[in-house]
Amino acid sequence: MAHQAPARAGADQRERTADRELRRRATAVIPGGMYGHQSAGPLPPEYPQFMRNGRGARVWDADGNCYVDLMCSYGPVVLGHQHPKVEEAARAQAELADCQNGPAPVMVDLAELLVATVRHADWAMLAKNGTDATTMCCTIARAHTGRRRILVARGAYHGAAPWCTPRPAGVTPEDRANLGYYTYNDMESVQAAVTAAGDDLAGVVVSPFRHDAGFDQELVDPSFARGVRALCTQAGAALILDDVRCGFRLHLGSSWEPIGVMADLSAWSKAIANGYPLAAVLGSGTFREAAASIFVTGSFWFSAVAMAAAAATVGALREENAIEAMAARGTELREGITAQAAARDLDIRYTGPASMPYLSFAGDRNHELASVFAAAAVRAGAYLHPRHNWFVSAAMTEADLATALAATDAGLAAVQSHLANHDK
Ligand SMILES: Cc1ncc(COP(=O)(O)O)c(C=O)c1O
Repeated sequence: MAHQAPARAGADQRERTADRELRRRATAVIPGGMYGHQSAGPLPPEYPQFMRNGRGARVWDADGNCYVDLMCSYGPVVLGHQHPKVEEAARAQAELADCQNGPAPVMVDLAELLVATVRHADWAMLAKNGTDATTMCCTIARAHTGRRRILVARGAYHGAAPWCTPRPAGVTPEDRANLGYYTYNDMESVQAAVTAAGDDLAGVVVSPFRHDAGFDQELVDPSFARGVRALCTQAGAALILDDVRCGFRLHLGSSWEPIGVMADLSAWSKAIANGYPLAAVLGSGTFREAAASIFVTGSFWFSAVAMAAAAATVGALREENAIEAMAARGTELREGITAQAAARDLDIRYTGPASMPYLSFAGDRNHELASVFAAAAVRAGAYLHPRHNWFVSAAMTEADLATALAATDAGLAAVQSHLANHDK
């Protein structure tokens, strides 16, 4: 394995041959060359499309170029790549079996562990992707209430099924017919949407904080969370917390536990198995019967390896104080970048929780400056994103942080010269 040093800022001197050749082949056999959130198409050309391996907080692309990983596979990798305890648990289960005629005993172990860890949960159901989990929450809420309407925040992302995909292609109005909309952190708008739903309100889906891609992040106003909770209770509707992106990154007991607001149903995926494919719906006793009444399944939903990985992930998160480690490293990253921007007289906004930050530039149009920044940071060896929140893993060392900060400074220097050239 070629552990090449992170590339220097300036001209892109990294080897790109393997990536170019894979992209050429992919264009012939994969629609659009690539699809979904991992398509490098909309990113600056400096981004590799194909990744080869990862360890701790470092990843290597198909050409062997090394990066400090500030995207963590868009969220799943929370303890770092190839975490020894998670890999060992997955390997031990794989030696027994993965996909069988029935679930392995580890499914019960994991359900018990999740119920013991997440405060509002009395039961757990497992699936594969975050979209499975958010969709199941809506189905359970409807089964419980016998009503149709689900409220979501305008612009929030809850997955890629027709009811929630952000792209209109292939979606019919009927797919969205039973949705109502509110504005995040705006209690009046929730009240109005609840009133409009009348006696047909099944549930309200809400994210732990406003983490819409492409926008500055907004932490939840605790009075908003409490207000939504009260309205759901009053209406007999389900409060559905979409913890797919934040779950096990902000708090082990669910992301709203610190503010004392309990969901009825919560959707999980991404970080729960440190990169192994797994999702979960957790719920309170009131919704247990409805959860048992719906038919949901999938060929791979009962596969045991990801469940063993999840049980080990939850254990390691606790043993290693991973939440605190991510917050501490994230704070150092924020302080470092904020100081770099001040030294270069750049007006940045650094929003979101320390371990899930988002960087934008004052007056930036169409993410032009963010793209200049990200492209230079990638060239200098930090894999981050110009329009999506970043993720800080618990595996990040002081050395990783130093490399990341050297790369972000290269990114800020590129923005400074871009602005200087523009002003001429
Ligand atoms: C908040 C949130 N909900 C749901 C999803 C959908 O998860 P998945 O892509 O695993 O289906 C995502 C994915 O990014 C997410 O961030």
